[in-house]
Amino acid sequence: MAMVSSRLVFLVSICILVSQAIAQPDFLYHFCLDKGNYTSNSTYNTNLNQVLSSLSSNTEIDYGFYNFSYGKSPDKVYSLGLCRGDVKPDICRSCLNNATNLLPLLCSNQKEAIGWYDYCVLRYSFRDIFGIMEDSPSFYMWNPYNVSANYDQFSQDLRTLLDSQRGQAAKGGSLRKFAAGNATAPNNQTLYSLVQCTPDLSDQDCSDCLAGAMEEIPNCCDGKQGGRVQL
Ligand SMILES: *[C@@H]1O[C@H](CO)[C@@H](O)[C@H](O)[C@H]1NC(C)=O
Ligand SMILES: *[C@@H]1O[C@H](CO)[C@@H](O)[C@H](O)[C@H]1NC(C)=O
Ligand SMILES: *[C@@H]1O[C@H](CO)[C@@H](O)[C@H](O)[C@H]1NC(C)=O
Ligand SMILES: *[C@@H]1O[C@H](CO)[C@@H](O)[C@H](O)[C@H]1NC(C)=O
Ligand SMILES: *[C@@H]1O[C@H](CO)[C@@H](O)[C@H](O)[C@H]1NC(C)=O
Ligand SMILES: *[C@@H]1O[C@H](CO)[C@@H](O)[C@H](O)[C@H]1NC(C)=O
Ligand SMILES: *[C@@H]1O[C@H](CO)[C@@H](O)[C@H](O)[C@H]1NC(C)=O
Repeated sequence: MAMVSSRLVFLVSICILVSQAIAQPDFLYHFCLDKGNYTSNSTYNTNLNQVLSSLSSNTEIDYGFYNFSYGKSPDKVYSLGLCRGDVKPDICRSCLNNATNLLPLLCSNQKEAIGWYDYCVLRYSFRDIFGIMEDSPSFYMWNPYNVSANYDQFSQDLRTLLDSQRGQAAKGGSLRKFAAGNATAPNNQTLYSLVQCTPDLSDQDCSDCLAGAMEEIPNCCDGKQGGRVQL
């Protein structure tokens, strides 16, 4: 995974092809959700293009969260863009710009899709997805290296760090629900972690979502030096 292997990194997050000659980095993961199709040049298609272009061209928002919709029912399109809380606005814009180009190509003619880069996530749908906590779909990534010793202590240190960050992120307010930090793990190693929710969630939903993501750590990343759970 993209995490630095000499460090212990845990990331818990979000409780939300390029036919051209230009090669773009692929998403870490994406889902085309098969909830319905639109036809090319339909009103839905036009509304989707409109909402994605306003999302990727926006220069006013500097807190890394975009909840834009466009059009009238039944062709209204809802879109959410979120950047990692430790990413600068210009990188955030570049990431979302890439996502708005790539996702509709990967999920061509699908009304609902979600894709994750390292620095951002993009989601769109015909459904109102604003302020609603959803814990699926999800994906995991893990560092292949095992924690070398004192795994029980490592797990406990990790849980303590994540619990504290979960509380911090949930209380972050309506523009940013993010926390990142470090703690000392066994053998004097430094443990890094980062948690984040889309800020349109209530404090409680954010906290619940992160608790759910934390519960997945034993399933995805048991004994590993690093991991990522994205919902
Ligand atoms: C967006 O894509 C361009 C072109 O491939 C790439 O150079 C740039 O690093 C990408 N931006 C991000 C934030 O990944
Ligand atoms: C969308 O279209 C694909 C093939 O183009 C089809 O397999 C799929 O069943 C359709 N999905 C829905 C929800 O209609
Ligand atoms: C959609 O519109 C474009 C530009 O007007 C046109 O070139 C293309 O053939 C149309 N596609 C379909 C499937 O109608
Ligand atoms: C990690 O531990 C598991 C279970 O103990 C073992 O099967 C696996 O080979 C180990 N992986 C590495 C990279 O050491
Ligand atoms: C969009 O997000 C902002 C910032 O979190 C929030 O204040 C606003 O209520 C949201 N709008 C909708 C329609 O959910
Ligand atoms: C760990 O976090 C503290 C703040 O809690 C910060 O001052 C320190 O620079 C961080 N250490 C590393 C190695 O990132
Ligand atoms: C732990 O690491 C810190 C900073 O890297 C260093 O100052 C300290 O001496 C180390 N402690 C032990 C017991 O190795």
